[in-house]
Amino acid sequence: MTKGKVDALLGIVFGDEGKGKVVDFFTPRYDVVARFAGGPNAGHTIIFDGKKFVLRSIPSGIFDEGKINIIGNGCVIAPDLFMVEARELEQAGYSLTERLHISRRAHLILPTHRVLDRAYEAAKGKNKVGTTGKGIGPTYSDKAARVGLRVGDILNGFEAKYQALKARHEQILRDLGFTDYDIAEEERQWMEGIEYMRRFPLTDTEVIINRALEEGKSVLAEGAQGSLLDIDHGTYPFVSSSSTTSGGVCTGLGVAPNRFDRIFGIFKAYSTRVGSGPFPVELFDETGDTIRRIGNEFGAVTGRNRRCGWLDLVALKYAIMINGVTDLVMMKGDVLDDFDTIKVCTAYTKDGETVTDMPYDTEGWQPVYEELPGWKTPLSALRDEKDFPQAFKDYIAYVEQATGTPVSIVSVSPDREATIIR
Ligand code: GDP
Ligand code: IMO
Ligand code: MG
Repeated sequence: MTKGKVDALLGIVFGDEGKGKVVDFFTPRYDVVARFAGGPNAGHTIIFDGKKFVLRSIPSGIFDEGKINIIGNGCVIAPDLFMVEARELEQAGYSLTERLHISRRAHLILPTHRVLDRAYEAAKGKNKVGTTGKGIGPTYSDKAARVGLRVGDILNGFEAKYQALKARHEQILRDLGFTDYDIAEEERQWMEGIEYMRRFPLTDTEVIINRALEEGKSVLAEGAQGSLLDIDHGTYPFVSSSSTTSGGVCTGLGVAPNRFDRIFGIFKAYSTRVGSGPFPVELFDETGDTIRRIGNEFGAVTGRNRRCGWLDLVALKYAIMINGVTDLVMMKGDVLDDFDTIKVCTAYTKDGETVTDMPYDTEGWQPVYEELPGWKTPLSALRDEKDFPQAFKDYIAYVEQATGTPVSIVSVSPDREATIIR
């Protein structure tokens, strides 16, 4: 962390790497914490003092009362879900209104965006993306089509703009023959959410962030989703609709590339993916089930089973390259405590061809593994690197050597305390 600079903490695989936990742990070192992409498709889990919170739109820096938190222009926001999330924090004793700033340029997710999400998925037949159903794709589509509704519109001719966009959506739904939906109650709560949002600073967050940087303050950009779900660099079309990589920090917050200092790339000691799409390292056997059970790999947003597999170095190296990762953060090593051997995917192979760079189309590739000895020691109570079993140290060193990137932070249990800086 350097004064006047931006650090980013980015999921570099398929999301759910543990971003919430590490952002919460990092927050005391920063002045500002900002989300730059995504919306309530995210579910960021934070656990401390025996309490658990799952944040969707609100940055994970919110538990440190002295810090400014920002929902940046690159985000999309659902007023009804935001209200539920914010009220839960208020009920837990956290005051938000003074220190949670929302960009006027962020786009609003309408109830009809969520219906469109369902309709588009239904129309895709067996090629469904497996979205979270939160209206993410349709909202970013409207943004790109230059017809979206923005947070700033709440303060300026809102009702007419809302009705116009809703009518547009209803027409598309009629055209698709998707008419069996009722959003009356949802719309009522959504409008309540709009009223609720008025108490927050709906503002020019890019100015707040850049002023803070000018004053020598430090900013942490909190990623959502993961690099392989990025609209450009992910496994398209099985991706989310935002820029989840470091380039997205610039556009999603309005900060220039020369403001960056550290880029933390967070990953798990193994791989997971929720939703559809290619996943070469996926395990369909008992090992996959064991990782899912011990790792509690069930989605924080939708409760779906997360698909599980071994660590994928092809994917990791690609994400490190795209993001300019300076430091790796390795999570959930404790989940692999009981395995005799641990596999790592070092290449993909298909029809006699072997690649170590991420292919254009990851469909149909088989993983090539190397095997490393397991550590067969419980990690979760350890708080000092020198107490790590040698085989775990070797596993970390193997990843560092293979990626050419230091693993600067290691997490061995969900709790805030179990975060070890190397
Ligand atoms: P995010 O979306 O990247 O913030 O990650 P999620 O919150 O969706 O998923 C990460 C899950 O792993 C959460 O349930 C965390 O409580 C949990 N977790 C985080 N770090 C660790 C760790 O080191 N070990 C274990 N066992 N669980 C962890
Ligand atoms: P966090 O921030 C894991 C996945 C969905 C689906 C695809 C598109 O908690 O890591 P969308 O609703 O965005 O259109 O869905 O992306 N997805 C995530 N998977 N973690 C997330 O967020 C995700 N956000 C979206 O499962 O496959
Ligand atoms: Mg998550």
